[in-house]
Amino acid sequence: PTTRHYDLVISEGQGWPDGVVRDMLFINGQFPGPLIEVNRGDRLVVNVTNYLSKNSTTIHWHGLFQNGTNWFDGTTGVTQCGIPPGKSLLYNFTIDNQFGTYWYHSHYGTQYLDGILGPLIVHAPEEADARKLYDQERVVLVQDWYHDFSTVNLGNYLVPDNENSEPVPDNGLINGFSYFNCSSYPPDSGRTCFDNNTYTVFTLDPNTRTRLRLINTGAFAEFQLSIDNHTLSVIEADGTLVNPYPVHRLPIHVAQRYSVVLTTNQSTSTNYWIRAAMNTACFTGDNPVLDPTTMAVVSYSGNNTIVPAVNSSVDWKDAYDVICEDLDPSLLVPTSRAVPPPATTFYRVDFSFGIGAYQLDYAKVNGTTWAPLGNSTTLIEAVDGLGQGEAGKFGVTGQVSAFESNQFVVGTSNSSVEVVDVLIYSLDEGSHPFHLHGHQFWILRTGSGSFDWKNYYSSIMPSKPGAVENALRRDTLTIKPYAWSLIRFVADNPGLWALHCHIAWHMEAGLLMQFMSRADVLKTMRIPDDVRALCV
Ligand code: C2O
Repeated sequence: PTTRHYDLVISEGQGWPDGVVRDMLFINGQFPGPLIEVNRGDRLVVNVTNYLSKNSTTIHWHGLFQNGTNWFDGTTGVTQCGIPPGKSLLYNFTIDNQFGTYWYHSHYGTQYLDGILGPLIVHAPEEADARKLYDQERVVLVQDWYHDFSTVNLGNYLVPDNENSEPVPDNGLINGFSYFNCSSYPPDSGRTCFDNNTYTVFTLDPNTRTRLRLINTGAFAEFQLSIDNHTLSVIEADGTLVNPYPVHRLPIHVAQRYSVVLTTNQSTSTNYWIRAAMNTACFTGDNPVLDPTTMAVVSYSGNNTIVPAVNSSVDWKDAYDVICEDLDPSLLVPTSRAVPPPATTFYRVDFSFGIGAYQLDYAKVNGTTWAPLGNSTTLIEAVDGLGQGEAGKFGVTGQVSAFESNQFVVGTSNSSVEVVDVLIYSLDEGSHPFHLHGHQFWILRTGSGSFDWKNYYSSIMPSKPGAVENALRRDTLTIKPYAWSLIRFVADNPGLWALHCHIAWHMEAGLLMQFMSRADVLKTMRIPDDVRALCV
């Protein structure tokens, strides 16, 4: 293990990733931010400096466990207050017990979708067998993109009587680029648009195998990703290696990651399109997406075709058979078997949106709407409260009374490691990528409509592990419209951990709740002074 240092400087400026000029945010003057690459066991030391003119910022390390360093999880209002303009924070933590494909992003409002994001890769010797399946690797960031600053869209979204009609993206990007047809905007639109015809090009040697690390760094849209004429072999989902599973199209929702192996075994006389098609059918709003299919190019090296000319490449004709939902998790079998231990605690979490005349478009999680605490964090409130012997506030089965009424927080135990089942129940017509901080969870069951969980539990809890041995473990899963998923995690990680829909609009609408794990350990932990000092 070694210590790896990075500097991330957050600034604002103008950019034109797809040719349309807009105000956006940058890391070290670039978008997307730099690749952070470490080995399992390394210490990662990252100095984040905020050069924004008005707003605070944070960086969250999406998917990293932060075991023992909850205060570096980067979640505004939960684990830290924002880094104010002109100030820095030194994030300093080790990466243990995990490896694979992750990313980092601002967790302050909707800020990440203006540009504060980048990939984070963790290598480990445990990948030795998987490495025999490929010769090289590339990172592929796929995301939706808006031509207005996020707060402009947010203001239009969180208004009364909106019926949860989200802002729809204008375009998509692959590794921070794509093409946009400027004539989509009338000359008097006030937009500056360069018709630059730029695609990201992946140049690969013929007859080689490439691990593509796919990350959906977007705000809202699920994509179907495919490469003309090529089958993709899925080998990783959110840090879990799986037995290779071939697909033509891979659905990837916001904040999810997959690794797929691409073998360059087709004709060398043409280039091939990578297509990232937004699942616009999952959107509830009726504004059309200006450009719902984003393209990039696979070019075999030695091919004389001038990039990006694509001659005979053929899109897969099979149906888009998975819409607004994940690839069936039972198709992805972890290579390293882990049977979930029996659950000790169960929560049912229902969510929906305020609808109807004069209703603000806010989300409800068991009747509560999250908003970050003003000048504190749930972590500080919990540590200080517990330190004063107020552990009784943290009931095992309910909302924590010490917090403002809008904070739905459940405490998972004062004295032992709980194994927590959460039934996430959607009462909404959209599809929602739910992310749990600080843990991976097993996906035990999913379904639509009603689920007789009382009967299910009376037969399996607490003595049996449940029907699904070696179920897929990941950190972000899609809840289908009016459907549910039952997940299980081991709450062995002291801290306050968000469970939320990763659609940026929904998070700001309050679709977030928190778990407090290991209160007994938490109360003896000391939040570093520089983190505490951000809350003034
Ligand atoms: Cu990508 Cu709350 O995180």
